[in-house]
Amino acid sequence: MNPASGLFVTGTDTGIGKTLVSCGLLLAARQAGLRPVGMKPVASGAEQNAEGEWRNEDAEALRQWSATPQPDYALINPCVFPAPIAPQLAAADLGRTIELAPIRAAYEALQFGASAVLVEGVGGWCVPLSDHLMQADLVRALRVPVVLVVGIRLGCISHAILSERAIVADGLPLLGWIANRVDPHCLVPDRVIASLDEEMDCPRLADIPFGASVHAAARALQGSVPKLFANA
Ligand SMILES: Nc1ncnc2c1ncn2[C@@H]1O[C@H](COP(=O)(O)OP(=O)(O)OP(=O)(O)O)[C@@H](O)[C@H]1O
Ligand SMILES: [Mg+2]
Repeated sequence: MNPASGLFVTGTDTGIGKTLVSCGLLLAARQAGLRPVGMKPVASGAEQNAEGEWRNEDAEALRQWSATPQPDYALINPCVFPAPIAPQLAAADLGRTIELAPIRAAYEALQFGASAVLVEGVGGWCVPLSDHLMQADLVRALRVPVVLVVGIRLGCISHAILSERAIVADGLPLLGWIANRVDPHCLVPDRVIASLDEEMDCPRLADIPFGASVHAAARALQGSVPKLFANA
């Protein structure tokens, strides 16, 4: 059996649609005949369930849209912190340090039952996970290519160009970017996207409308599945 292909979903910021795009990609990949599973290795912001276990919303959504049988929560989200603050700070408050080894082990376990593992990052690209670990180190350790979600709103042109430069400078393969029309108050979204089409070096893979459901996002992302998942 071929090893599962992997993909890391990053974004221009927190709250710009990484989870919507990730869930849409999981559904689109399933519709294309793959068995994808989602992963949110590091998550801050969680609630306790009836059993007293901490559960993060993104990880739950990724689990819900993964191929069945859905993996154990602990594999999808090995590092979960209650406080909705930067993960390095949330870990420090509990006297903990985020480390690569348990994340890599969970990723490898997910690969067993899946044909693709989609990993949603935390926040934007340049996120420290500990004093000695940047998010880019995690992506490098998992050896997965990257896709950048750009939340289309005022300020996103700079964020998108900076993110692309940083990903390339970190030596990681950037497969493309996805426009996500997250902001109904953006006055000229078409012109922002056209400007980014000019400025970005990597290709735009999709354009997700404002108000898209996971099913609508999957429709917009259908054509990008063969470009993003090596086994498609
Ligand atoms: N295309 C869209 N149209 C309308 N609302 C959207 C769109 N994409 C995302 N949203 C909304 O924006 C909010 C943030 O989206 P999402 O949770 O996917 O962002 P994120 O980048 O994953 O955030 P985080 O950094 O917390 O993981 C959510 O309320 C989501 O429903
Ligand atoms: Mg998210």
